[in-house]
Amino acid sequence: MSNKQPYCIAPSILSADFARLGEEVKAVEAAGAGFIHFDVMDNHYVPNLTVGPLVCKAIRPHVKIPIDVHLMVSPVDSLINDFAKAGADYITFHPEASSHIDRSLQLVRDLGCKSGLVFNPSTSLDHLDWVMDKVDMILLMSVNPGFGGQAFIPSTLEKTKAARARIDAHIAKGGQPIRLEVDGGIKPDNIAAVAAAGADTFVAGSAVFGAPDANGKSYNDIFAKFSKALA
Ligand code: DX5
Ligand code: ZN
Repeated sequence: MSNKQPYCIAPSILSADFARLGEEVKAVEAAGAGFIHFDVMDNHYVPNLTVGPLVCKAIRPHVKIPIDVHLMVSPVDSLINDFAKAGADYITFHPEASSHIDRSLQLVRDLGCKSGLVFNPSTSLDHLDWVMDKVDMILLMSVNPGFGGQAFIPSTLEKTKAARARIDAHIAKGGQPIRLEVDGGIKPDNIAAVAAAGADTFVAGSAVFGAPDANGKSYNDIFAKFSKALA
């Protein structure tokens, strides 16, 4: 029996028009986004640099949906604090980026946010073995982190099934609900396979903000395509 959470599309701001970011997050919320996926890169843990807590604080008042902060940074603890204060709802980080995974997960929760671990394509799910009670989200990277617009890595489907099995076993023992999010190269033509493998939360950056019919104001068409594919 699968314990999926309600399906949710989480547009990644990485592909948004940063000159109009407030309008962009409002537009994807209006079109049906369930989360705003906020990619934080430090040009240390990943070879790219994006935005910090100030920008999270700036968009916070413009959307009601959760802000799902994906930390591609190392170390993580000081930025966990800063993003919690800036209005993040979920804060996820890579196990390789923290010297004390359990403590960093606890810090996210102590600050009132939902916590999660992010798994690169080659990172084992074994990091979950002793912290399943401390995660509210498991995020599987279906691309190598650092950039939008990359191709979906097919081995993620098997990994998604394995993560789903871990979540279902955890819940069968009375554990808390856990969202299973997949991030990278998600399109209307592959999202159904990712859902069938057990995911319930889908990050989409270039598919949303780069959609040919997206006129930068309405994203209804791309969300309709995703909804149809998930029906
Ligand atoms: C990559 C980021 C992803 C990326 C997704 O490091 O974590 O969230 O922005 O972008 P697309 O959907 O274009 O692959
Ligand atoms: Zn991401």
